Amino acid sequence: MTIDANAFYRLVASRRDVRGEYLPDPVPADVLARLLGAAHRAPSVGYSQPWNFILVNNAEKRRAVFREFEASRRREAEQFDGERRTRYDRLKLEGIMTAPVNLLVTCDRSRFGPAVLGRTQQPDTDIYSTVCAIQNLWLAARCEGLGLGWVSILRPASLKALFDLPEPVEPIAYLCLGYVSHFYPTPELEQRGWNRRLPLAELVFQDDWGEQTTDVALVQAIDDLSQKAAE
Ligand SMILES: Cc1cc2nc3c(=O)[nH]c(=O)nc-3n(C[C@H](O)[C@H](O)[C@H](O)COP(=O)(O)O)c2cc1C
Repeated sequence: MTIDANAFYRLVASRRDVRGEYLPDPVPADVLARLLGAAHRAPSVGYSQPWNFILVNNAEKRRAVFREFEASRRREAEQFDGERRTRYDRLKLEGIMTAPVNLLVTCDRSRFGPAVLGRTQQPDTDIYSTVCAIQNLWLAARCEGLGLGWVSILRPASLKALFDLPEPVEPIAYLCLGYVSHFYPTPELEQRGWNRRLPLAELVFQDDWGEQTTDVALVQAIDDLSQKAAE
């Protein structure tokens, strides 16, 4: 089977983190099942599939997560001063109460352990695997016309307590999901002047840290790609 590369790159370019454009329309069970199925097909260290997906339907629990967000946001805001602080205060950074679906993705650090193939020298690879599942879910959601927002302004210890997670299970991502009125064409944080996309060519090194690549064809191709993306 050949894969449509153009469709894939369009998907990657049009995926967005969504905070404020959720519609109230419910997400049908078969659509949600496909998204979870895509997440469950992610690569995982030693094929350990360390993830679980906790759907947060209970309104009181959602309110509790929102309160935790508000408190964490206040703490985070204090890290920024002056113009940066003003910009931070204007940002919308979650869709907890408006997204029809909330879910917490967790990582069971004991699954198939203690010795997991591929994880003995890099213990955090179970977390990386869980993040691969989240990215699959994110891309699948975009294909289905659903927006997804990752909310990390939450203390892991609070999430652990709120969802009664057993000791070896860590909360990795609190996600908001739902149909949206529209997707921004570029990252919202770029549009709101918080940050910009770094030039790819500056991030590609060769052989040693900080050494620019001498591959002229590659540099030219990256340049062409960046021009096309800017059009
Ligand atoms: C690990 C992780 C945590 C994030 N946490 C938040 C968050 O708490 N609030 C928020 O508004 N966006 C959050 N984001 C979304 C990023 O801000 C977003 O991915 C980035 O600005 C690029 O925009 P894009 O995803 O639309 O391309 C998070 C993204 C990742 C990968």
